[in-house]
Amino acid sequence: MQSNTASPLHMIDILRKKRDGGALDEREIQFVAKGAADGSIQEAELAAWLMAAWIRGLSRDETRALTLAMRDSGVKFAPKNLGKRTVDKHSSGGVGDKTSFLVAPLAAACGVAVPMISGRALGHTGGTLDKLEAIPGYRTALTLAEFEAVIAKCGASIIGQTDQLAPADRKLYALRDHTATVENPGLICASILSKKLAAGLNGLVLDVKTGSGAFLRRVEDAEFLAALMVATAESAGTETVALLTDMSQPLGRGAGNWIELVECVELLRGARPAWSEDLRELSLILAGWMIHLGRKAETPEAGYQLAEAALTDGAGLAAFMKMVDAQGGDVSVFDNMESFHKPGATLEVDAWQSGYVAEMDTTALGWAVQRTGAGREKAGEPVDPHAGILFHARRSAHVEKGQPFATIYATTEAMLLEPSELLRGAITISANPPEFVPLVGSIITRENAENYLRNAVD
Ligand code: URA
Repeated sequence: MQSNTASPLHMIDILRKKRDGGALDEREIQFVAKGAADGSIQEAELAAWLMAAWIRGLSRDETRALTLAMRDSGVKFAPKNLGKRTVDKHSSGGVGDKTSFLVAPLAAACGVAVPMISGRALGHTGGTLDKLEAIPGYRTALTLAEFEAVIAKCGASIIGQTDQLAPADRKLYALRDHTATVENPGLICASILSKKLAAGLNGLVLDVKTGSGAFLRRVEDAEFLAALMVATAESAGTETVALLTDMSQPLGRGAGNWIELVECVELLRGARPAWSEDLRELSLILAGWMIHLGRKAETPEAGYQLAEAALTDGAGLAAFMKMVDAQGGDVSVFDNMESFHKPGATLEVDAWQSGYVAEMDTTALGWAVQRTGAGREKAGEPVDPHAGILFHARRSAHVEKGQPFATIYATTEAMLLEPSELLRGAITISANPPEFVPLVGSIITRENAENYLRNAVD
């Protein structure tokens, strides 16, 4: 039913319509997004709407309308003086997913402007902003003028949503986290793209996770989300590519806040520990696409080469430190990263039997990380920068009983127990190694997105 443009809208009617499986029109969707942004719709009503949308689903038209309405719920970032193409990367959310700290400075070092607007921890996944705030003084809330000035100076800036940029997402993102309404393709698409499109990007690289730690675990569902986001962003004028990437285990070695920054800075300093090889490789692939969309390389493969050169010669490290400094962060904490790390309590968990690390329930591992104090249970709660989990064995590794498997850092002694139990329950050690899962699967572009959408299974 098309709502009558003359008659006033009421949230109760919109709620009833969505609850009963009706399709909302553009005007009704705009009403919800505006009400979320300006506070004229109560939280209880927004939460009910999110649950109705989660259960009933959002059509492609509804998703597009919601994305654009949320984008338009605030101002747009329209830099005047950058003189470069602007390209960003965004992940659909994972555990130990810290590529932003590598791809932003690497792409910046290769001549691309990276205005990155990131989020906080959501569900079982970590948040880029929470991790950055582990650096004393780092400001994630900049004005748009400051944001542009940092990008002009350093090539990249990573900030959070402001009251000005996509404020509807700011409100809905926090509510979804506490109302079990995260894992829905339409809501994820609108959430991610509203802030990316508000940033006025020329290019966007989407890292869409699949596997046990992804919001949408099945490859078909992740492909659908990826294609939905590519088609929606392209129709709004941003050149977009989506890569399906593996989240059947945490990415890299650590999941938490400070420990994730440490891992990235070690890579930016040229280290190549085996446990971070997947993180290094994925970051170079994503940065390669960013550099390609930024027109600094003919192909994504040539972009990869440029990104790797910037990693090897220290240009990426310099760009990272410059950005941290420009945003008020104390870069001296990176001089001695180990002594800065002061967790309240530490526990080593040893392998409880010998065999291959077969399956990891990475979502449960994400909740284990959250329960260390690294994530929050209620919106607005502080997080512990020093909490998290370091994994010493990866999927398919052979472990001997008693060998260190993981180190848990928690805020207090009492907070060690739950994560350790969750961790043991999340890992299967068996006699045979698991099936190989590639780091990167399908690549979805504007050329093939419609095919994926047509073939999507519900
Ligand atoms: N990242 C976002 O910004 N939003 C989501 O819904 C999921 C991941």
